[in-house]
Amino acid sequence: MAVAPEVDGVPETALWTLHHRVLEAKRPDAMFADPRAVDLVTRMDFPFAERFGEGFRTQTQLLALRVRCFDLAVSEFLGDHPAGTVVALGEGLETQFWRVDNGLVRWLTVDLPPSARLRERLLPRGDRQRLYVGSALDLGWMDEVDDSEAVLITAQGLLMYFRPEDVHRLLSACAERFPGGVLVLDTVAQWMGRAVRRASTRAAGYRPPEMHWCLDSADWQSLRQLHPNIAEVTEVRSPAGRGPLAWLPPNVHRIPLIRGRRSGVVRLRFGPEPVAPSLCAPTPSSPSPPARRKRGHHRPSRTRPPQPRRDSTSPGTPDHPQTNPRPHHSMVMVATPPPVPSQNKPLPAKTTLSQVRLEY
Ligand SMILES: C[S@@+](CC[C@H](N)C(=O)[O-])C[C@H]1O[C@@H](n2cnc3c(N)ncnc32)[C@H](O)[C@@H]1O
Repeated sequence: MAVAPEVDGVPETALWTLHHRVLEAKRPDAMFADPRAVDLVTRMDFPFAERFGEGFRTQTQLLALRVRCFDLAVSEFLGDHPAGTVVALGEGLETQFWRVDNGLVRWLTVDLPPSARLRERLLPRGDRQRLYVGSALDLGWMDEVDDSEAVLITAQGLLMYFRPEDVHRLLSACAERFPGGVLVLDTVAQWMGRAVRRASTRAAGYRPPEMHWCLDSADWQSLRQLHPNIAEVTEVRSPAGRGPLAWLPPNVHRIPLIRGRRSGVVRLRFGPEPVAPSLCAPTPSSPSPPARRKRGHHRPSRTRPPQPRRDSTSPGTPDHPQTNPRPHHSMVMVATPPPVPSQNKPLPAKTTLSQVRLEY
C-alpha cells in the first residue's frame, strides 16, 4: 500500500526537494541518476505535482546543482577517507547515500520524528546506515557519531530554517566536537530570503516556510569567527548546468555586482585538534596542548555562544579564503564579553577589541 506522508511545516520541504530531484533525475539529460528517489515517489500517496507544481525549469536545475555540489563534496571526502563517517543533518528523504556509496562509508541520518518516521517506512537501512531521531539542535546525535575515522557533516537545505543564534551554536559545537572534521552547508542570500517570504505570503497553494538565517556570500568568511577551531571556509563551486545555466553557476563569483550577494554551498574545515574555549588557550602546537579526547568516547559537548575572533591576518574573501595560520605558540586573553556576530550585523572592521591574541 502507498505511504501517505503526514508532514507539514519544515518537514514538508523534504517532499519539495524530493519532487525536484525526481523531476531532474527523470530527464534524459539529467545531471545525476537517482533511481532510488524515482522509485520512492511511486510508493507514496502524495499529490506532488498538484501541491508543488511541475517545477520551473530554472528552479529545478538550481536545486539539482545544489545536489551536485553536496555530492561532489561528499565524494571528494570519501576519496580521501573511504571509510569515513557522513552525518546528514535534516536528511529528510534524500537518497544521497545511494548516489555516493563506495561500499565502506558509514552514514548517520539525523532528523525530526515526522521526517525520520517517513524515512524509516520508505527507505531501506543497511548495516552501515543509522538513524538518529531528534533535533540537530539538541546535539545528542553527536554521541552517535562513529569518529574512529574522519567525519563529514552535511546540512543541506536545513540551516536557513533555524534562528541565527541556533545556527551559530550548532556550527560552534561541531567545530569543537569534531576536530579535523568538515561541515558542508548551503546558505541563502538575503535578497532570496526576502523573495521567499514575499512569495510565501502571496501563494495560494504551497507556502514555503520562512527562512530565518540568510547569509550573503560576502559574509561567508564571518563564519570563521564563530569558533577558534573553524580553520577554513571555502566555497564548493557549482558545476555547469544546462542552457543558460551552463556558464553562469560556475562563473557567478566573477561578476562584480552579484558575487557578494549569492546563495551557495560552503565547506567549513575544522582544525586538527580540539581548541579549548577557555580564557587562556594554548594552541595545539604549544608545549602543553589540551588533552586529546579518546576517539569514540564522547562526553556531551559543552556549548557556548559564538565568540568572535580577531586574527593578525586579513579575513580573506569568498574567492581567496584565508586559512588560520597556526603559530608555534599563542595565547588568547578575553578582556570583555565579546559581541555576538549576527547575520544582519557582521562585525564592523573596528569592533572594540575583546580578545587579544599573542603569537610568538
Ligand atoms: C528542506 S528539507 C531538506 C531535506 C534534505 N536535506 C534534502 O536536501 O532533500 C529540511 C529537512 O530538515 C529537517 N529538519 C527541520 N528541522 C530540523 C531539526 N531541528 N533537526 C533535524 N532536522 C530538521 C526536516 O524534517 C526536513 O527533513
